[in-house]
Amino acid sequence: MNICIIGVGYVGLVTGTCLADFGHNLICHDIDETKISSLKAGKVPFFEPELSNLIKKNLQSKTIEFTTDLKYSIQNSDLIMICIGTPSNQNGEADISQIEDVSKKIGSLINDYKVIAIKSTVPVGTNRKVEKIIRENLINPVDFDVVSNPEFLREGTAIYDMFNSHRIIIGSNSKRAEKVIKDMYLPFDKPIYITTRESAELIKYASNCFLATKISYINEIANFCEKVGANILEVAEGMRLDPRIGSMFLNAGIGFGGSCFPKDLKALLSFGKEIGYDFKIIEKTLEVNELQKILPIHKLESILGSLNNRTICLWGLSFKPYTDDIRESPALDIIDTLLEKGAKIKTYDPLSMNNVKKLYPQLKYEDDCYKSAESADGIIVATEHEEFKNIDFIKIKSLAHLPIIVDGRNMLDCLYLRSIGFEYFGIGH
Ligand code: UGA
Repeated sequence: MNICIIGVGYVGLVTGTCLADFGHNLICHDIDETKISSLKAGKVPFFEPELSNLIKKNLQSKTIEFTTDLKYSIQNSDLIMICIGTPSNQNGEADISQIEDVSKKIGSLINDYKVIAIKSTVPVGTNRKVEKIIRENLINPVDFDVVSNPEFLREGTAIYDMFNSHRIIIGSNSKRAEKVIKDMYLPFDKPIYITTRESAELIKYASNCFLATKISYINEIANFCEKVGANILEVAEGMRLDPRIGSMFLNAGIGFGGSCFPKDLKALLSFGKEIGYDFKIIEKTLEVNELQKILPIHKLESILGSLNNRTICLWGLSFKPYTDDIRESPALDIIDTLLEKGAKIKTYDPLSMNNVKKLYPQLKYEDDCYKSAESADGIIVATEHEEFKNIDFIKIKSLAHLPIIVDGRNMLDCLYLRSIGFEYFGIGH
C-alpha cells in the first residue's frame, strides 16, 4: 500500500519505518528541512534502539523516502497518517492547531479517494473536526474518510512494541476506510478493535491516565510502607500475583515523566473542565507525582541537613532507560531543587547528557559513574539504566566523600549496599 506519514517526530518515524519494513511504500513528510535531509542520509534525530538500522535498511530497499513536498506525499498515497504533535498549551489543553493547519492543506491537495488516519493523541471530537476542515477546503470534489488510529508505542521499546502490539484500535464511521486500514495492518497479524471515532480517541487518553494512576497509587503505597515498616517490593510482588491487578506498572519510584503521561493527564483534566466534568482521580495522580519527583532530596536532607554547598551526584537524567528523552523527566525537578538549595551537582547519563547540557550548563558532566561519584556527599539514582546495576560499589565508596545513596528507582541491591557500609534509601523500603 502507498502510505504517507505527516510529521516524522517520534510516533511518525517509528510507525513509518515499521510499516515500510512490512512491505508498504512509505513517503514520510515533515516541514523541517534539516530533519528531512538528515533522515535522507539515515541519521535519526533522537535515540531509539534499532530505529537507525531499520531506516537505513528501508532506504536501501527504497521502501521509505523522506520529503518536505506535501503535495507529492499526499497525491502519491492511498492512506495518509497524521502524526503531528499535540503539545500542552498554558492551561494544559492539547493544542491541535498544527493538525488543523495540515488538515486545510490536505483538503486543498487530495485528488482522489484517501483515508486520513489520525495517530496523534487528540481530544475527543478532533476526528470529526478534521473531517469538517478537510471538507471545507476541498478543491477537487473527491471522497475521503477520517479515522482514528491511536498509538500505543513506548519510547525505548517502540520498534518491539510496533511488531508486538497487543491491540490495534480503529475508530471509524466508514466501512470503506475500515477495510483500507485493516488491509494495512494485515501483515502485523494483531487483534483489531473497531469503535466509533470518539471512543478510539478516548481509549488513548483513558489508557495513559490509567497507567499513570497505577504509578501514583503504588507510589503512595510505597510512601505509606516507609511510615509503617512494610516493604513496597514485597507488597507490589504480592499484588502482582492477582491477575485482576496485573504484574506491570507497579514499580514504585520517583514518578512518571516523558512526553506523554504528564501531557495527556493535563489534557484530559482540562478537557473535562471545559465540558463541566471534574476528573478528581487524575488531578490527584498528578499531585502525587509532583511530590514524588523530589522525594530523594528530602531523604538526603534527613541525613545531611542543609544541602547548601554539598556535592550531590546524580545518576540518570532521561525519564526512563533506553532513551535520550528528558522531557518532563523527574531528574530535571531534582536538579532544579538541588540548585535552589545551593548544592553542587555532578552527573552522568549514558544517553541524554547532551540534551541536559543545553538547559543546565552549570552542572558538572562526567564520562562515567565513577568520576561523577568522586567527592560526592550523596548519590541519587534517577533513571534505571541497566549499566547502574553493574557498578563496582566498593570502588564508589572509596571515591565518594560520604557513602549515601538514594535509589529513586528501587533498582539496586539494598542488602548488599548496606552490607558494605552504604547508607541506602529506597522508595518504600
Ligand atoms: C507511554 C505509554 O506506556 C505508551 O503506551 C503510550 O503509547 C505513550 O506513553 C504515548 O502516549 O505515546 P512512554 O511515555 O514512552 O509510554 O513510557 P512508559 O514506559 O509508559 O513510562 C512512563 C513513565 O512512567 C516513565 O517515567 C517510567 O519511569 C514511569 N514508570 C513506569 C514508573 O515510575 N513505574 C512503573 O511501574 C512504570
